[in-house]
Amino acid sequence: MPCNLAVRMFSDLVTQLDNLKSKGLYRCRLTSESPQGTHVSIAGCQYLAFCSNDYLGLANHPDLINEARKGARKYGVGTGSSHLISGHYVPHQDLEDRLAHFTGFPRALLFSTGYMANTGIISALVSHRGEIFADKLNHASLNDAALLSRAKFIRYPHLDLAELERRLAASQAKQKLVATDAVFSMDGDIAPIIELAMLCDKYDAWLLIDDAHGFGVLGKQGRGSLSHSNAISPRIIYMATLGKAAGVSGAFVAAQTEIIETLIQRAHSYIYTTAMPALLACTLLKSLTLIQQEEWRRERLAQLITQLRTELKPLRWKLLQSTTAIQPLIIGDNSQALRISKALQVRGILIPAIRPPTVPRGTARLRISLSALHKEDDITQLATVLYELSIEIK
Ligand SMILES: Cc1ncc(COP(=O)(O)O)c(C=O)c1O
Repeated sequence: MPCNLAVRMFSDLVTQLDNLKSKGLYRCRLTSESPQGTHVSIAGCQYLAFCSNDYLGLANHPDLINEARKGARKYGVGTGSSHLISGHYVPHQDLEDRLAHFTGFPRALLFSTGYMANTGIISALVSHRGEIFADKLNHASLNDAALLSRAKFIRYPHLDLAELERRLAASQAKQKLVATDAVFSMDGDIAPIIELAMLCDKYDAWLLIDDAHGFGVLGKQGRGSLSHSNAISPRIIYMATLGKAAGVSGAFVAAQTEIIETLIQRAHSYIYTTAMPALLACTLLKSLTLIQQEEWRRERLAQLITQLRTELKPLRWKLLQSTTAIQPLIIGDNSQALRISKALQVRGILIPAIRPPTVPRGTARLRISLSALHKEDDITQLATVLYELSIEIK
């Protein structure tokens, strides 16, 4: 029997959970029974899905599955320790070398997740005496990383370079770092990387580019947002994830040698964690080859984006201005967004309702994400159902 104090602690949690429910902010998980794809099975039902970051449709590719099998046979399934003890394998090293070459940097370093990469980079490069300047719509992992570093954390309004410059000019800090999503994860718009790099040169700051949603999709052969914008600067620290367009899991940082060596010495989320299974590095080597060679996946994605934007144009709810695979449909009210998402699900379509704190208050949305494997008919089916719902739901 819990003591009185424990009873109160539990009842506080129940009150907080009830509060989330009453505000339409309670989060629930769906349990998938099938591989990632444009159609997924949940609780025995098939759904047409627009909720994955598997933009190129590689997450269930037979060649990748084959490489995972071969990797498991050769290296087993676990690495047994961190990279700095005995968990760094030949495929990890090969992958780092290929990622560095692909993204045009001298070195690259693998992390187990993008969240860990961001916390590792920021804490290793900026101490409590430094200042971090972050776009207001950056991913939560960059914000958490800034807080963990204990540096002064300055958030500038979304894409407001004049305000960023004002804050950089006023800074007395020796260590300065500007952090930005390259493709904003909930809006789909693209950061002005060239202009940001110029500001960082002018005010002597590092520029951390989080290209979770650009790598594989943007730029020449899918090299990412730096290639897309032709940005080059030794101050750039490039981070991209490998669980989205690359279809597997993990992340990497590409940068100058001194930065990578600093991360190896200082980034806790690199040092104090078990290395990703070598079989994943084997799988990612194949994924990288497909990203480079199969241009048709990016071309197909571009066609689908145009089709979706054209078909949803007359709809009552509006898409944000986005040219990427992330196409957010703004609903506004949390409960309304949830209601539409549930109504779509009843009609066999899966799109999550994204609500605060993930997005600013009053901008709850359906985050429609496209895959190169979607068919034209899938887009038309989505548009038709959304029109029906826009009449039904007032
Ligand atoms: C912009 C951005 N950065 C970082 C991450 C974290 O990456 P990971 O899922 O590999 O932890 C995500 C998504 O999850 C993201 O959208």
